[in-house]
Amino acid sequence: MVLDGKRILLVIAGGIAAYKCLELIRRLRERGAFVRCVMTRAAAEFVTPLSVAALSEDKVYGDLFSLTDEHEMGHIRLSREADLVVVAPATAHILARMAGGLADDLATTLLLATDKRVLVAPAMNVRMWEHAATAANVATLAARGILFVGPREGPMACGEFGPGRMAEPADILAAIEGTLADDGALAGLRALVTSGPTVEPIDPVRFIANRSSGRQGHAIAAALARRGAATTLVTGPTALADPPGVTVVRVETAREMLAAALAALPASVAVCSAAVADWRPAEAAAQKLKKNDAGKAPRIALAENPDILATLAGAGNRRPALVVGFAAETENVVENATAKRARKGCDWILANDVSPATGTFGGAVNTIHWITASGVEAWPRMSKEAVAERLAERIAAALAAKGGRP
Ligand code: CTP
Repeated sequence: MVLDGKRILLVIAGGIAAYKCLELIRRLRERGAFVRCVMTRAAAEFVTPLSVAALSEDKVYGDLFSLTDEHEMGHIRLSREADLVVVAPATAHILARMAGGLADDLATTLLLATDKRVLVAPAMNVRMWEHAATAANVATLAARGILFVGPREGPMACGEFGPGRMAEPADILAAIEGTLADDGALAGLRALVTSGPTVEPIDPVRFIANRSSGRQGHAIAAALARRGAATTLVTGPTALADPPGVTVVRVETAREMLAAALAALPASVAVCSAAVADWRPAEAAAQKLKKNDAGKAPRIALAENPDILATLAGAGNRRPALVVGFAAETENVVENATAKRARKGCDWILANDVSPATGTFGGAVNTIHWITASGVEAWPRMSKEAVAERLAERIAAALAAKGGRP
């Protein structure tokens, strides 16, 4: 039990997602963690300090200038006593104040004073998340070592859709557990992750692609980065926010993805979760294809794309110490994936059932069989973020056993 006896200092900022904190606090308490909460003035407009106090079974802190608090505790001590500081929801405003080093209330003062790791769960309107000011603040914070979980994309309270929704309590919990359990387990190592679909042009306006959302790969990159790995994410087009603290290389085609992946070596671990198009139009037409007079549909000749996973696994002395692939199967999942592991020469395969009834492709959950040289382990159905945490844990353990270096 990673969380048993651990002290979490939870900073609750003023966003509509603040109500989800109650669930987070409850789950942390169930796992034996002590939760001390600090609320901003705005947070108290969204969730009552009384509910937060009841669930955390502790007093709630809010006012920097309360002399009793200063006497009993002091904001410096408050920030130092924790094992981990979590900011959830982290609004655009508190991220800006953190990036600017402001200390104008208890929450920002302790965030400036703390010497502990800080994990933030952003939550805001999609346009606020995508605004250049927020992007710059997030980059500044990530460069300072602040850890991020989420945001997710999805429908928002304001009626819009896109990245900005706070990660679910279960995923924040998984990120907290991962952060505390592994405590920089991948620090000093390099990781490479491929994600998303590839897009193969037919002509200047048409392409062949697939329904991959990139969610699993982006979550894996975030989980590896949280454990301290210098992580490069090579991704095809997705609607997802860049995971903070990760170097993101955007590509379109399989060939571009391969070139970017090879350029990211050396790496201790490579995780290929991209849904790479197996074929591309052999020749992309220079001009838009036109309907011809005879009413005949054009025939598009296809050429096979390079296999990125197999190329990395066979990269000789540039091969990462650990090469991990996924197997998207619709039938005989374990048998097909076991054969795929051997065929591609990778160390592990995470097999997932992508038949339409499972809702895996483009969805939020995944059912994985973890296939290694020593056998098959069935993982329970869990969110893609939780799969990412579990995989990152296994990677950290395996690299520690191998001595870590490529
Ligand atoms: N992969 C890759 N490059 C390709 C094709 C696949 O890197 N050109 C990787 C994927 O990222 C994944 C693994 O190979 O980690 C398996 O992908 P999958 O689509 O399941 O397998 P395929 O090789 O396409 O085999 P098949 O379609 O025959 O099942």
